[in-house]
Amino acid sequence: MALSLLGLAVFLFVTMDSDYTSSTAYAAASEGVEITYGSVIKLMHEKTKFRLHSHDVPYGSGSGQQSVTGFPNVDDANSYWVVRPEPDTSAKSGDNIKSGTIIRLQHMKTRKWLHSHLHASPISGNLEVSCFGDDNNSDTGDYWRLEIEGSGKSWRQDQRVRLLHVDTSGFLHSHNKKYSRIAGGQQEVCGVREKKADNVWLAAEGIYLPTAESKASM
Ligand SMILES: *[C@@H]1O[C@H](CO)[C@@H](O)[C@H](O)[C@H]1NC(C)=O
Repeated sequence: MALSLLGLAVFLFVTMDSDYTSSTAYAAASEGVEITYGSVIKLMHEKTKFRLHSHDVPYGSGSGQQSVTGFPNVDDANSYWVVRPEPDTSAKSGDNIKSGTIIRLQHMKTRKWLHSHLHASPISGNLEVSCFGDDNNSDTGDYWRLEIEGSGKSWRQDQRVRLLHVDTSGFLHSHNKKYSRIAGGQQEVCGVREKKADNVWLAAEGIYLPTAESKASM
């Protein structure tokens, strides 16, 4: 099922790519592609350039849930996340996302949600960030509030953003603290409540669904 989704996503990417060669789409593309619900993206930690990553390996401490790390290489399929709205909203695929909106990030390969809670993270003892649930199971521990840096109103690829975990008030954070054993070379991802430079992320590689408005006008 994940494979067929990827097939669809690749198709959309090709479609979008041809759109951006047309003159009408040029202005939008040069200002930064809009990030819409249904887009499949990698999130890059600004300071270290590592990508937000998960894989089917549980933490050996804390909750024992699926681990989330920072991954050094750009090219890894386990670093793709699908941008989803809260359940029971009218938001749909292709809608843009305003600063302050609560979103969810679903790990594409394992279908689990980016999650946090009061367990201690393995290296630094901050808030643990894990992957949890499945397509049909999601709770408030999967809610993250999008905070765009600067004056931008809706999320674009060139913007620096923070993700504030709703239940714990911890910002999605990473830093140069590396795992040696189960995830060699990968670094810790955790939640921290203080507003720090290490809480800033950028949308990097991905398959960006066109906004609903631009689809309607085509
Ligand atoms: C989610 O629910 C659908 C419909 O009931 C079902 O077909 C699917 O197998 C469920 N998925 C998981 C991961 O449980």
